[in-house]
Amino acid sequence: MRSLHASDVSSRGARWSEEEKTTAPWRVGVLFSQSGFMALIEETQFRATMFAIDEINARGGINGRELQPVIYDPASDNALFRSHAHRMLANDGLSTIFGCYTSSSRKAILPVLERLNGLLWYPTLYEGFEYSPNVIYTGAAPNQNSLALCDFLTEAYGPRVYFVGSDYIYPHESNRIMREMLNQRGGVVAGEAYVPLRSRRQDFLPVMRDIRDTQPDVIFSTVVGEATVFLYQAYNDFGLDPKTCPIASLTTTEAEIAMMGADVGEGHITAASYFQCIDSDRNRDFVGRYQKRFGEGAPTNMCVEAAYFQVHMFAKALESTNSIDPDILRPMVLGQKFEAPQGMVSINPRCSHANVWSRIGKATRSGQFEILRQSIAPILADPYLVGTERPAMWVT
Ligand code: ACM
Repeated sequence: MRSLHASDVSSRGARWSEEEKTTAPWRVGVLFSQSGFMALIEETQFRATMFAIDEINARGGINGRELQPVIYDPASDNALFRSHAHRMLANDGLSTIFGCYTSSSRKAILPVLERLNGLLWYPTLYEGFEYSPNVIYTGAAPNQNSLALCDFLTEAYGPRVYFVGSDYIYPHESNRIMREMLNQRGGVVAGEAYVPLRSRRQDFLPVMRDIRDTQPDVIFSTVVGEATVFLYQAYNDFGLDPKTCPIASLTTTEAEIAMMGADVGEGHITAASYFQCIDSDRNRDFVGRYQKRFGEGAPTNMCVEAAYFQVHMFAKALESTNSIDPDILRPMVLGQKFEAPQGMVSINPRCSHANVWSRIGKATRSGQFEILRQSIAPILADPYLVGTERPAMWVT
């Protein structure tokens, strides 16, 4: 993080008192792909961010000042993520960015954030093993999703797991972690395949042939974006049966299932902090308001929920500090709690990652999930997997 100099302090002092006096909007960056092969899921994070911003503005903004989004579309291109982030922080006078789905896009903007002291709110599950004072991580880390999934898969289906992933950092790292967890439980990786991020249906045919020949007990997918739809469709084309050998994933949400068709998704497994079907007043209310805004056919999903609650957490901190300066805002964010649609969440002050819930769901014929297991409480974020405790889970 940038060090403070006396000249900074005096110019900041002037800026804060300006902030206190003004009624000008709080300007924040919004950086999700609204086009390209990642738009299927990032567009839902974009919508949820705008939805939360509108909710905050409808109740009068923050300390009488509106939140004003400054929006760029990085179009699923990491170079554009980086140049837009730079423009936001260096030219547009912003310090807060809500954005990024893929770990490669987050890694692309990290040096910009650290050099220009921006604060990224990152609402996506990822592979862990990262800490930056310039990021608040609100999606699940592996101890909050992979661990419970590995237990469930080996117990329910068997020890031989086939890994298929998109070819970039998250799948490779996530598989490294899953392999270790699996080996600790006496399981083995029966096969491993990576496909380009922009894969189409026919690109999965060799993978499906390999799966048919290998006959694993279960498939673990770290395929993301539009390619997810083609993976499940290719599986379906091959006549494989989710009752005996389903695809299990940390990334396949209600959004990808709506796109592939509920009949194609039925019976497959996802581990996530949030599913639309969560049976609580808080969540029913959230889903109702979201669908009133975006239509009944717009499902919520784990990425929507994290994108939504993180804006509200940001607003709560900003209300207290009345300063958007990351050095002032950050200490107020750490340790903060919020009653989110998934349940109570908080930002772990030791690592800037959210303490979130762990759930295992099976996709149903209606395109929703049925929750099979869930943690009895939020799971403390442990992005470096220092702890060895298995999460305590209810079987529902
Ligand atoms: C991811 O790339 N973090 C899903």
